Amino acid sequence: MAVYWRIFLSASLVNICCTASRKPQDAKRIGIIGGGIGGCASSLFLRDALRNDAYIVVYEAENISGRVRSVKLKGNEYEAGGSIFHEKNELCQRLVKRFGLKTLKDEDDNNNQGTLINYGSKVLFRSSDWSVFNAMKAFYRYGFSPLKLKPWVDDYITKFARIYDLFGRNCSYSRPSDLMFAADAELVDMFFLSLTDAMRKAGFGELFITEVAGAAMRVNYNQETSVPAFVGSISLAGMEGPLHRVKGGNEQLPHLACRSADTISPTRVVSVKLLNDTRFQLVDDAGQTDTFDFVVLASPLVRDRTNVEFIGFPVHFTAGDWVGSYQTTVATFVEGEPNFEYFGSSAFSAAFNIDPNGRWSSIGRLSTVTGNFPQMPVWKLFSRASLSDKSLSEMFLRVTAKTEVDWKAYPNYSEPPHYPPPFMLHSRLFYLNAVEWAGSAMEMSLIAAHNIANAISNEILGLHPQCPLAARTRHKDL
Ligand SMILES: *[C@@H]1O[C@H](CO)[C@@H](O)[C@H](O)[C@H]1NC(C)=O
Ligand SMILES: *[C@@H]1O[C@H](CO)[C@@H](O)[C@H](O)[C@H]1NC(C)=O
Ligand SMILES: *[C@@H]1O[C@H](CO)[C@@H](O)[C@H](O)[C@H]1NC(C)=O
Ligand SMILES: *[C@@H]1O[C@H](CO)[C@@H](O)[C@H](O)[C@H]1NC(C)=O
Repeated sequence: MAVYWRIFLSASLVNICCTASRKPQDAKRIGIIGGGIGGCASSLFLRDALRNDAYIVVYEAENISGRVRSVKLKGNEYEAGGSIFHEKNELCQRLVKRFGLKTLKDEDDNNNQGTLINYGSKVLFRSSDWSVFNAMKAFYRYGFSPLKLKPWVDDYITKFARIYDLFGRNCSYSRPSDLMFAADAELVDMFFLSLTDAMRKAGFGELFITEVAGAAMRVNYNQETSVPAFVGSISLAGMEGPLHRVKGGNEQLPHLACRSADTISPTRVVSVKLLNDTRFQLVDDAGQTDTFDFVVLASPLVRDRTNVEFIGFPVHFTAGDWVGSYQTTVATFVEGEPNFEYFGSSAFSAAFNIDPNGRWSSIGRLSTVTGNFPQMPVWKLFSRASLSDKSLSEMFLRVTAKTEVDWKAYPNYSEPPHYPPPFMLHSRLFYLNAVEWAGSAMEMSLIAAHNIANAISNEILGLHPQCPLAARTRHKDL
């Protein structure tokens, strides 16, 4: 109850602050296509910078919050999509604070029954708690590699954190790679190396790469260590922690951020038409037409899905180049008693399967969005395809409730585009989800939102911040 009251309170404050004396007739019109965490944060950051000088419309035909949402099982709620963020993910943390929310920390689980790394039903490694990276415990198997992980991840997090300084100076970049390059040139190199190669270069052992990095990739992205090192290191940062989530559910962040919009249109945009260099026309599936000075596409361009149509753009505008494959990940929530033997053990709290053809990718015991462990344990299984009743009856001795969420969750990094597409598709037209091809995470969407909001507000306010150079001089192929 308290949580809902708080949502309502902070939400109202946001609304009052920003709708009070707006003069839509003078304001620049900004259309945001997609009300996930990226689209909603774009609206919020634009509002911060532009106040009444912007009239913001967010189009969202399905649910505000997109892939950041919880599911209900037996009256309790559990994170189903974007579930965690790193302690050092500054933009997530700032939003939590700003909205008066609280975070839950992973360490809050004191029921830990251990973590397994499996190949199918064969247990390769068992840790008594979630400190797989506790060097002493893993020494006999992984040599010195566990000791190298923390410095490696910390170094990368330090470089990455320079992005926040750039934003503090109002900098914006037209490509994800330019932004990373401006933060630290080595981050861009991580787009070109696979995670396996980057870890070999850094001196990690083969077994550690295959098993520990493999497990991290499997649980975070349902993919293998052949992915680019950049997204791989996000995965490993997730293994290293500390990890946070929002008490009461991460979906509060997009919901509250979207209160900054003037209008939320519950429709799907079917086309973006370039009217002239400073004006776009959006048409939605209800047949409504509206014109905008700026457009932010905050929904991924996915192969095999109806995407927005681009009309009237010059021939060098090649939308097809930015469309990619998204990986299907099925999250199955089961209340019941696992058949621990099926997973090769007598008890565990989490298990990761590095068999690339395995029926399941990971299984872990869940706490609710308020951090409670229900009396009858609830488990989240990730898999690449829906689990049949027959599979579930092998994996569980008893199933008392279940529900399933089928996501197009994140890019398949083995398929084109192999480099992140640009943020800026055309003057005044931005593609937020380009950032997912560098790495897909809540913080990455917030970073893209901040970058795009800076670009738009700099243009509207006539600001020309002095910013470090972008990447193209070095990587001509980008
Ligand atoms: C950054 O932009 C804001 C408006 O969003 C402006 O008030 C501020 O002065 C700018 N700061 C710098 C360092 O340019
Ligand atoms: C929207 O949210 C509702 C309630 O949480 C859920 O049942 C539904 O599946 C969601 N729709 C989509 C498309 O995610
Ligand atoms: C662009 O089109 C809009 C609406 O059609 C019009 O008001 C505006 O003057 C045009 N701008 C330019 C630069 O042609
Ligand atoms: C990802 O792409 C690779 C390369 O095309 C393909 O082999 C693999 O099956 C894809 N993964 C999924 C889950 O679709």
